[in-house]
Amino acid sequence: MNSLKLHDKTFEIFISEKEIQQIVAKIANDINKSKIENPLFIAVMNGAFLFAADVMRQITLANAEISFIKLASYEGTESTGKVNELIGIGEDITGRNVIVLEDIIDTGNTLVKITDLLKNENIKSLKIVTLLHKAEVYDKDIPIDLIGKNIPNDFVVGYGLDYDEIGRNLPHIYKLKNE
Ligand code: IMP
Ligand code: MG
Repeated sequence: MNSLKLHDKTFEIFISEKEIQQIVAKIANDINKSKIENPLFIAVMNGAFLFAADVMRQITLANAEISFIKLASYEGTESTGKVNELIGIGEDITGRNVIVLEDIIDTGNTLVKITDLLKNENIKSLKIVTLLHKAEVYDKDIPIDLIGKNIPNDFVVGYGLDYDEIGRNLPHIYKLKNE
């Protein structure tokens, strides 16, 4: 079964579980090679929960910590352009080397919101890491340090990514099927 229905739409496999794990291993390895000291990972909920869990298991940097923020901008298959902060940074992160873990960077509106939130926190350094990136849609100046895979402007679900809250549990990443 390569296609599946979520709500009113049909999806087909786009990135297999195996390929996802290869991408994750490469990302974790690149982060480990960076030798960042006492890193504080910040995973962006909900979408990045599986990605963050899989990356963290492979991090060998000493004293690695993880924390979570929760932002939302999507309704259905479209970005609303407005990013809501549902759970903010609840701790003192002054002087920390922050590594943001995102599931996907699309328009970059969420990333702008994240960097705005971090601006006032006097952190020591910031790295942005994303599993997926829609480069053709991204129109912001913020550099993205690590990109797992660049994808076209298709709506995707699975491995943490949702279509109106369902599909996050799927082990593969699926894309909207053109009918
Ligand atoms: P941006 O603010 O447009 O960059 O979008 C960022 C957030 O929207 C991501 O962290 C995802 O949670 C969600 N998002 C963007 N594109 C997709 C998609 O294709 N499928 C599911 N969620 C997406
Ligand atoms: Mg997200």
